[in-house]
Amino acid sequence: MTRDETLDSIRANVENENLIKHMLATEAIMRALAIKLDQDEEEWGLTGLLHDIDVELTEGDMSAHSKLGADIASELGASESMAHAILCHNEAHGIPHETPLDKALFCADPLTGLIVAAALVRPNKKLAGVTASSVMKRLGEKRFAAGASREQIAKCSEIGLELEDFIALGLEAMQEIAEELGL
Ligand SMILES: [Fe+2]
Repeated sequence: MTRDETLDSIRANVENENLIKHMLATEAIMRALAIKLDQDEEEWGLTGLLHDIDVELTEGDMSAHSKLGADIASELGASESMAHAILCHNEAHGIPHETPLDKALFCADPLTGLIVAAALVRPNKKLAGVTASSVMKRLGEKRFAAGASREQIAKCSEIGLELEDFIALGLEAMQEIAEELGL
């Protein structure tokens, strides 16, 4: 399974460009986490890239979301551990997060939204000037990017990362692909 093939199937199943950008951002954070934690960068990156491939196909049905995604990922050649991480990232199934990959995807997913929102409130709407400390401040504002679950982001502790370090890593990873993200 190559990254190009993975992106092709994402483009075949997802129309919403913002959703594709969310998956690219998740990929970037997952790659950075894999490097930091000495894990398989390609496996972690592609898991992040694929994790929401079924969102449009499942049309908001949370009992189907991520089950279909895990099936699609397996058909594309994803390993069992990748499919499991995708499956359990949707809490609606109540499947425990067991492996570091499961846990990493779960906390990386909402971090993208918080960082995008931190860029969009800036006058130039760019990621370039966003700092980790400004994102940390926003984290404390309940109503800021309210959809980005603070509780879920804080689960970075389960992969051994302090919140500040996790945010700095995620921010840097997204800044590296800012152009692709249109930010
Ligand atoms: Fe997601």
